[in-house]
Amino acid sequence: MTDIVTVTLNPAVDVATSVEQITDTRKLRCNAARRDPGGGGINVARVVQRLGGDCVALYLCGGATGHMLRQLLDAEGAAGVGIEIAGETRENFSVQETSTGREYRFVLPGPTVTESDWQRCIDHIDALGAPPRYLVMSGSLPPGAPADVYARIARSTCAPGTRVVLDTSGPALTAALEAGVWLVKPSLNELRGLTGQPLVSEPEWIAAAEELIRDGRAQIVVLTLGELGALLMTADQILRAPGLRVRVSSSIGAGDSFLAAMVWALARDASLDEAFHYGMAAASATLLSPGTGLCQRTDVERFYREVSSR
Ligand SMILES: Nc1ncnc2c1ncn2[C@@H]1O[C@H](COP(=O)(O)OP(=O)(O)OP(=O)(O)O)[C@@H](O)[C@H]1O
Ligand SMILES: [Mg+2]
Repeated sequence: MTDIVTVTLNPAVDVATSVEQITDTRKLRCNAARRDPGGGGINVARVVQRLGGDCVALYLCGGATGHMLRQLLDAEGAAGVGIEIAGETRENFSVQETSTGREYRFVLPGPTVTESDWQRCIDHIDALGAPPRYLVMSGSLPPGAPADVYARIARSTCAPGTRVVLDTSGPALTAALEAGVWLVKPSLNELRGLTGQPLVSEPEWIAAAEELIRDGRAQIVVLTLGELGALLMTADQILRAPGLRVRVSSSIGAGDSFLAAMVWALARDASLDEAFHYGMAAASATLLSPGTGLCQRTDVERFYREVSSR
């Protein structure tokens, strides 16, 4: 049995570069680009692999970019199963403006997928043997996927003991929560989108998370708040951690790293408290790396000691 399986229906090759100043019309001569395998579940698997966990990333991929994605993921030593589709995997592009430190992120829609594409994801999870302990469904949906596809995948592949973990946005988030999950990790913007409310204060954030738990849409809500840190809620517990003060190089992948480290820790039977602290530590460690680079294990361990001693 695999501990953790992640599902990424709309992965990408993330291309990251920098340029002194961004203006229109003129050619912007950028610095050398780095390429990383990307998409929510792929990032989660990369971080779990760096932390030494047992994880398989399942993803849809197609065309030349899909081929590159496979190679990039293999080169990192992350276990992945790429399911070939007819469409061409997307590239996402991020540029840091070095004169201001601002980051510009261009995100493409991705290829249109068919029912048979995501159905084959279900078949592959079944083929892995016993259902995973943690099924992490993370990232946006590609065109063509029904909004409730995460709920359908969970329904078809989970045993009663499988813990379903969700990190997505918009209609995909709404639909997956209708079926109920074990843990959901919205960012504040995603929670605002879900509730349709401005949610300006901490009591409002807590009330919104409480409602998700009361309705049975999630048992654990981990609300990430950017520089304000994070909040974890269950039916009988609230944990709150302020953001660590770090020199932010890029916040790309911070939320994915948070989720990855939490699930990795929980799969090693850590307490919710410890897992939450590992999440904070990994998110903070990812902020140190430029562009689409993720956290390093030594930084995660260092920040973990800092967070858990506060
Ligand atoms: N500027 C920052 N300073 C300190 N910590 C930060 C900062 N930005 C992000 N973090 C850390 O990263 C975590 C995740 O960030 P965030 O809440 O932005 O989620 P996200 O999933 O990356 O967002 P989204 O999916 O909406 O892009 C936060 O809980 C926090 O620990
Ligand atoms: Mg996120």
